[in-house]
Amino acid sequence: MDNRSIGVFDSGLGGLTAVKEIMKLLPNESIVYFGDTSRVPYGTRSRETILKYTRSDIRFLLSCGVKMIVIACGTASSAALPHIKEDFNVPIYGVVDAGVYAAVRETKNKKIGIIGTPATIKSGAYTRYIKKYDPAIDTFERACPLFVPLVENGHFDTKVTELIVDEYLRDIRAAGVDTLILGCTHYPMLAKAISRYMGDGVKLISPGQEVARFLKKKINEDNRHSDIPDEDRYSFFVSDSVESFEQLGGKFLEQEINGHVKRIDIESY
Ligand code: DGL
Repeated sequence: MDNRSIGVFDSGLGGLTAVKEIMKLLPNESIVYFGDTSRVPYGTRSRETILKYTRSDIRFLLSCGVKMIVIACGTASSAALPHIKEDFNVPIYGVVDAGVYAAVRETKNKKIGIIGTPATIKSGAYTRYIKKYDPAIDTFERACPLFVPLVENGHFDTKVTELIVDEYLRDIRAAGVDTLILGCTHYPMLAKAISRYMGDGVKLISPGQEVARFLKKKINEDNRHSDIPDEDRYSFFVSDSVESFEQLGGKFLEQEINGHVKRIDIESY
């Protein structure tokens, strides 16, 4: 038994796609979420900057007394986590391993597509992990820098989305992948448009969903679940406007979060 919260963070709203799954699979757990909305996007920044941001995000969540941390950000998971994992004394889980594990299980023709932010693709983390599981798998990667601003502005499935999806996914579709990893936690919000473009035969993998499954297994194995009969179990923190996070965040979670979001000064962590 461990009644402390699970800490989850992302550069902005994207990590809420993971939070939604954690809420579903682990309904008794309380969650502290941090969205670094004043410094989003992470995906176009250097590894040094992503490392610095990731460290301060973790320090903030630790100050909230969390029992474990989920990096619900493909960028920080692939560019920073391998370098900082040992620096903190709580378990820290990223989205890469869980997503890779699901994709490797899923593919039949051994062709996996990976889309993510420029920093994620540059890190090569997804292909590296996939090859570790099965060197015979071919991967096809593509950075999609315009997807995050599309999502942050609510263009989940519009004409603009369709155009950009075509631009970014044309080559991956032509390569004949049967599995596509949405390597950024913002991307599940575009799943409808992406799936329509890729076709029924292509399975989309959402690492946020996979990390929630992994977390459930881990919490059960380690007997670290919470048993507090607490109604008010979710708190959200941002480093910029509370109002815009409440508005769009509600759409990500498909539930109101008005009144549950506070602003913090992340530069002081
Ligand atoms: N949601 C993020 C990810 O998974 C970050 C996007 C960004 O900040 O560029 O990569």
